Amino acid sequence: MDILNFFLGRAFFRSAGSSRFHFCLVVMDSQENSPKKVVVITIDGPTASGKGTVAQRVAESLGFHYLDSGALYRLTALSALQADLPLDDVTAIAALAQELPCVFRHGRVLLAGEDVTDKIRTEEVGNTASKIAAYQPVRDALKALQVSFRQAPGLVTDGRDMGTVIFPDADLKVFLTADVAIRAERRYKQLLENGFPANIDTLRKDLEDRDKRDSERKSSPLRPAADAVMLDTSSLDIDESVQRVLDACVEKKI
Ligand code: DC
Repeated sequence: MDILNFFLGRAFFRSAGSSRFHFCLVVMDSQENSPKKVVVITIDGPTASGKGTVAQRVAESLGFHYLDSGALYRLTALSALQADLPLDDVTAIAALAQELPCVFRHGRVLLAGEDVTDKIRTEEVGNTASKIAAYQPVRDALKALQVSFRQAPGLVTDGRDMGTVIFPDADLKVFLTADVAIRAERRYKQLLENGFPANIDTLRKDLEDRDKRDSERKSSPLRPAADAVMLDTSSLDIDESVQRVLDACVEKKI
């Protein structure tokens, strides 16, 4: 691109989990006088479709930042559970989401200074997250935090509505799916590996309930963006899935 068409602009942004405002440089397009968009790759899909692992590996491979948006809903759910809030108190839960004292550091997640990386991965927290994620005020409260992760040199993010609502102008949108039996099996192995007790039948039922709730809710339901690349990983391993996304990046000239 013609360098003369750009000038350096400045902006303040609040980094995730920090109440402090940081100073940063952004490239501005002098013709449109708006910040040049940082590349975003969104990977949406149902629970246990492998999108988190794939997104993380793609981010590593490209040297991009990574945002696990589900972790924000899980952190909100954990905060609500810890505060003993009734799960139908939308206003109080949205207030928690608005002021989430979370920090993502070296692959760990801190909530009000406590390392909750493992706690937010339990099925109880996941199911609660799915319930409170149906509340529009909670989704609104988490939006700015998610958008703030869009920083140079680029962002790979996974979730349910990354390509449809949070980053509708993403450079590449992938919708990852896998057969529910395969997803239940993957989640089962993952839980056992991490030392959590698990029952495959209960897990499958939970996955189906969660898929239904996430897809049928009114606010930002789980669905592929119109311009998403569909990727069924039922018969693919992680390496192959990552490679498919990287191939799609090459096609999109990312
Ligand atoms: O991806 P996950 O299983 O960690 O997400 C937990 C729940 O959070 C999921 O059941 C639905 C909700 N969620 C959402 O509604 N929107 C997102 N972008 C990410 C997660």
